[in-house]
Order: sequence, then structure tokens, then C-alpha cells
Amino acid sequence: AGRPAPPGLLQGLKVVVSAGPTYEDLDPVRYLGNRSSGKMGFAVAASAARQGAQVVLVAGPVQLDTPPGVQRVDVRSAAQMRAAVFAALPADIYIGAAAVADYAPRAFAPNKIKKTGTGETLALDLVRTPDILAEVARREDAGLKLVVGFAAETDHVADYARQKLESKRLDLIVANRVGVPGAGFESDDNAMTAFWPGGERDFPPAPKVRLADGLVELVAERLKA
Ligand code: CTP
Ligand code: CA
Repeated sequence: AGRPAPPGLLQGLKVVVSAGPTYEDLDPVRYLGNRSSGKMGFAVAASAARQGAQVVLVAGPVQLDTPPGVQRVDVRSAAQMRAAVFAALPADIYIGAAAVADYAPRAFAPNKIKKTGTGETLALDLVRTPDILAEVARREDAGLKLVVGFAAETDHVADYARQKLESKRLDLIVANRVGVPGAGFESDDNAMTAFWPGGERDFPPAPKVRLADGLVELVAERLKA
């Protein structure tokens, strides 16, 4: 018998994490999706659980194992993700790591859409999905002490991230550059920079599992600040 483990950094706190892509169905055989693997969000959920938090992980369609000690809710679309996130509140911390589809087909076609009669081009009628993160951050009855967003950008990373921090009224945003080889979507490694009002922290390239531990440490620090 060794010494008892020290209490975790997030002991006694409830954390809701969203992860993975969302798929927006067009007809019974087609959907609009994006290239999120869900690995970063799952790693963050695992790390928060290791730090003693009660974790609810709202997961879009991904092929990943549920981290130990994490309560997982599987969803498909942005609308379903929104409902599952809101059902998981109140919580102390929300971490929006999902790559939510920005647009969904206005209507689901119950029968497979056929080429015949549509000609050489096809225009899809799409409508904006709800901004789950911004809605969560605006809620005043959800008990939230810290709301964390992600931003995947190809260019002007810091500027766009700071704009999102402000416009969505977040406490912290984690930005990473996508579209560069060996990082971001589908990779096990990443590099990122976290921004908060009045500060920032660089996380050099590392496995997502290690970055997640660093992010959870930062979350615990910002909670105390
Ligand atoms: N997000 C969300 N709901 C949406 C769109 C985005 O909760 N419908 C969240 C993401 O989970 C992420 C953050 O908002 O934490 C930023 O997502 P991002 O796609 O970078 O920003 P958008 O506001 O969608 O802007 P754009 O895609 O035009 O850069
Ligand atoms: Ca988006």
C-alpha cells in the first residue's frame, strides 16, 4: 500500500466535453460531414476524468473507445449534439471540442436523391446550425464557471481565435492551424495556442494525449484565476 493519490486538479467538478464531427443527413444514403477524428476531445475527456472530474462526453460519429470513467452520449447531427449538451447541464466546465457542421440541409429527403432530372449541377439548400458553444456561454442558469472553445484555422490563427473568444464570450479558446502536414485533423499529434482575455500559452507539437493534459492543467489554473 503506497501513499493515497493526491486529489485531482478537477476533483468534485462536473465537465461536459463535446467531441468529433457532426453529420447532417441529406437523404438516407448521404450526409454532410467534416474531417474531425474526435481524438483531441476524447483525450481531453480522459484527462479531465483522470483529474477527478465527473465527465460527460457528447460524441459525434467517431470510431474511438470511451475513456475510463467517462459517461458517453453518442449523437449524429448538430441538433442532436445541442440537445445532448443541454441535457448534460448544469456543469462547472464546458469544453466544446467538436467540429460542429456549420450548415445542414434545409430538408431531409426521405427517398434517395436521383441524378435523373437534376442535370449536370446540383445546388444544395443549406441552413445554419445552432452555435452550441455560443449558446452555452450565454446561459446564466447552467452553473458554468469556465467555457472553453476550440478554433481550427488555416490562416490568421491568433486573430480569428481572439475574435471567437470575444464574440462567443468564452473564458478560453484553443486554436490550432489546420491544413499543414502532420497536425490537426486525423493526426495523433498537434500544436496549439490557448488564448484568454489578457493572456496566451503556446503548446508546442506533442501527442494529443499530452496536449490534453496540458490543457486540463490550464483549465484548472483559469478556474482559480
Ligand atoms: N461551434 C459550436 N456550434 C457550431 C459551430 C461551432 O459549438 N454550430 C463551436 C466549436 O465546437 C468550437 C468553436 O465553436 O469550439 C469554434 O468553431 P469554429 O468552426 O472554429 O468557428 P465558427 O464559429 O463555426 O466559425 P468558422 O467556421 O466560420 O470559422
Ligand atoms: Ca465552423
